[in-house]
Amino acid sequence: MCGIVAYIGTQEAYPIIIKGLQRLEYRGYDSAGVALMNGTLNVYKRKGKVQDLLDFADDKSTKGNVGIGHTRWATHGKPDDLNAHPHVSSNGRLTLVHNGIIENYEPLKKALQKDGYTFSSETDTEVLINLIQSIQDHDDLSLEEAVRIALTKVNGAYAIVVLDKNDPNKLVAARKASPLVLGIGEDELFFASDATPIIEYTKKVVYLNDLEIAVANRNGEFEIRTIDNSLTTPYVQELEMEIERIEKGGYDYFMLKEIHEQPKTICDAMRGRMNASEGWIRLGGLEEHSNRLVNADRIIIAACGTSWHSGLIAEYLFEELARMPVEVEYASELRYRNPVITEKDVVIAVSQSGETADTLAAIELADEKGALIYGIVNVVGSSIARASDAGSYIHAGPEIGVASTKAFTGQVTVLTLMALNLAFKRGKISKTYYHQLLTEMEAIPGKIEKILKSNSKIEYIAGEIKDSTNALYLGRGYNFPVALEGALKLKEISYIHAEGYPAAEMKHGPIALIDENMPVVVIATNQSAYEKIVSNVQEVKARNGKVIAVVTEGEKIISQMADYTIEIPETLEPLTPLLSVIPMQLLSYHIALMRGCNVDQPRNLAKSVTVE
Ligand code: AGP
Ligand code: GLU
Repeated sequence: MCGIVAYIGTQEAYPIIIKGLQRLEYRGYDSAGVALMNGTLNVYKRKGKVQDLLDFADDKSTKGNVGIGHTRWATHGKPDDLNAHPHVSSNGRLTLVHNGIIENYEPLKKALQKDGYTFSSETDTEVLINLIQSIQDHDDLSLEEAVRIALTKVNGAYAIVVLDKNDPNKLVAARKASPLVLGIGEDELFFASDATPIIEYTKKVVYLNDLEIAVANRNGEFEIRTIDNSLTTPYVQELEMEIERIEKGGYDYFMLKEIHEQPKTICDAMRGRMNASEGWIRLGGLEEHSNRLVNADRIIIAACGTSWHSGLIAEYLFEELARMPVEVEYASELRYRNPVITEKDVVIAVSQSGETADTLAAIELADEKGALIYGIVNVVGSSIARASDAGSYIHAGPEIGVASTKAFTGQVTVLTLMALNLAFKRGKISKTYYHQLLTEMEAIPGKIEKILKSNSKIEYIAGEIKDSTNALYLGRGYNFPVALEGALKLKEISYIHAEGYPAAEMKHGPIALIDENMPVVVIATNQSAYEKIVSNVQEVKARNGKVIAVVTEGEKIISQMADYTIEIPETLEPLTPLLSVIPMQLLSYHIALMRGCNVDQPRNLAKSVTVE
């Protein structure tokens, strides 16, 4: 999943690359490295964070106006100094950073070894750089031509940048299924996995398309060709991102900042798209394909992780409000199942990063089968956004914390607007209820502000349960996906094993786990199954479980049985997840912090999962 930064121009490359890698560290952080050209080629790489690389390079020469850098999330070979990128070709001439997987690396490696090429790492990446070298050696080709031919021989995914020691006046970059952005400055060019390392220097960017190769020259000129060597006319875009949105803004961690941004990001997701007093909802992408959406046989939602949880909430929303059949699929499973998908289906891909390889592959398959692809994505210009027929951005701004928070509520907001719009167009919702829901949506940001004020109470509860080794999260109806999300948040950042269950399902197995050491988080807001969930809490208490209940303000019954309660404001049932998820996020944040975990960069994970 890795982050790539490269620079060529008139400034010192090293500080630009390091700063950029720190911005991209969310993508991978098990090792980092740079290659800098200043008459000689200096390559420094280190296991660990970008800070470890900085410390290592502290007493070394870091001069040069051209360089490439990488922060790694290992796929092939353990995280160590040797496997870290950049990788250098056998003859020491070419250097490469790579994001992705070269799937046919083994046969290529064997063939190269036979020809005398040597390898010092276990990575698939090193095979690619030696392959480029072998082609260059053989036919004495230019770097870009050697890269182009090499890429016709590899399967898999890549974003790469290559530097040639003998020709340091250019960088060659290419992509297939892994993102790469070219930044265009004054007499300088940048490459990066997303725009955040570039934004300080220029707002002009080109998002490379799959199977495109870019050559960036030291004088600031560039050229983009396709893999079959035809010249393209690049589409230069102006970035709208503000630098403040990618800084911590006074918070200790990005995750905490992002949790607190939610009142604003939810407003941003609704802005210009609805008006409660006038009673309208307008989502650009939806209007364009209104007919197909309104008359779809079925909606299939494909996503992973937290985005899959948003999809589950959407299932309840679309079914209840718009009366449309919905299937929610793990993108990774959908793809390999030979699913029945037709032109009458609409496939909604939900993804924060817009780069998740499994989700991208699923929509490519659905597209082949003729379905309409609708993307609900955060990162503007990302691969899923571009591979969709239509879509709506969630406008949450950069989400840096690996644990997704504001993207989740942004996704749920947009999916709710979609469901309401389709419900209205299909004539399945009463005017009164439609208006009530729209009015209540406008009240959600204010209600989240109120929940955020319970932060210190939630912190106290976190302190009481932080030493647990397991936790159970229960919810019913709209709160069932929230229980799954609460459990995922806890396990990914605090490494406590946690399970989310529909509350009633507990008696079919998980109840066996309950004893006085087991915290059970019950999301029991006022809703249709409230009485039933009261019984579920009784069942937990009867077995001495420790209950942490999230209830609606003023609730009396569960509050008396529970060991700890967190109140959230009353809302209409379909909108509950937007509120009930906030205590889940804060609880896991505080627990992880108290356990000394790296909240923003949990072990083994990466923000954007561009490998299958
Ligand atoms: C969320 O906290 C996770 N880190 C992860 O499950 C994430 O939601 C998943 O990888 C999907 O990512 P996407 O939304 O960028 O597609
Ligand atoms: N496959 C490469 C490696 O293991 C790159 C990994 C990635 O992009 O995450 O080093």
